Amino acid sequence: MNLPEFPVCRPRRLRQSPALRRLVAETHLAVSQLVLPLFVRPGRRLRRPVAAMPGVFQLSPDELVGEAAAAHALGVPAILLFGIPDKKDAAASGAMAKNGIVQQAVRLIKKELPSLLVITDVCLCEYMEHGHCGVVRAGKVLNDSTLKLLAQTALSHAEAGADIVAPSDMMDGRVAAIRAALDAHDFQDTPIMSYAAKFASAFYGPFREAAESAPRFGDRRSYQMDAANAREALRETALDIREGADIVMVKPALAYLDVIHMVKSEFGFPTAAYAVSGEYAMIKAAAAAGWMDERAATLESLLALRRAGADILITYAARDAAKWLKG
Ligand code: PBG
Repeated sequence: MNLPEFPVCRPRRLRQSPALRRLVAETHLAVSQLVLPLFVRPGRRLRRPVAAMPGVFQLSPDELVGEAAAAHALGVPAILLFGIPDKKDAAASGAMAKNGIVQQAVRLIKKELPSLLVITDVCLCEYMEHGHCGVVRAGKVLNDSTLKLLAQTALSHAEAGADIVAPSDMMDGRVAAIRAALDAHDFQDTPIMSYAAKFASAFYGPFREAAESAPRFGDRRSYQMDAANAREALRETALDIREGADIVMVKPALAYLDVIHMVKSEFGFPTAAYAVSGEYAMIKAAAAAGWMDERAATLESLLALRRAGADILITYAARDAAKWLKG
């Protein structure tokens, strides 16, 4: 490109007023892009604050409905649901129970708020006594025996009325296993949003308190991706798409903008970015200390995800962001 030079070219001409800046903005944030993650646990009138995530609570189903309704009233189109069961075991039986906490919550929300999209996180870590995302034998997380449990879990979510299922476990072949189970039971129209490129990340720290899902031994590096690898993220995403993923996700978000950009440019699929618990906690902590403007920092980081190529923004700040975008 042969660009004119100063003084013919003056980029500041287009920055003179809010209206001019809006007119030439390349990227837009909209409430319709936001997904709010919520945590549900058994009980009534329960709102347990998550210390490391101010403004986030573990909610009983009745409270969950109120929280979801408030977000939906602001225009947030979807929630992403995580369950915390009363009991954990070595087979994650609570994950796929007909009357499990997520299944109950989905039924209730779909009844009370039919136009709100309910996405369910499909994983076993919250339901396993050892806190890993799969079946463990002799200290190893087994891939293939985990697939059956994940498929049953996803199917039970669809049966409860989930609009989209979102596997976050990072086992190989899980999208195909889930697609097959859904199709075999007449859920061929239930979309899968796969956590396609999910990295083993320190930014999940606060979530493990929120979901009570910290691994009891070792870490998740044998199944989640190494932060060093972006090209591998493309291979992971390609596999998920081939197996039937309808929406692909990159997680975490802000530290992986390059991956979001590569995934969107390479495949052009609907792409979600998950601004995870640690990203939320950092802004909250800095804002509480008076070191950063919470609103400006939140909206700027969400805009960065859009600029990188994300279509769907999963964020604990969805409610606030919706409010700010309206105002
Ligand atoms: C479960 C799961 C995790 C997150 C989403 N699903 C935790 C993990 O992998 O350890 C993290 C979300 C967040 O940090 O906000 N597998």
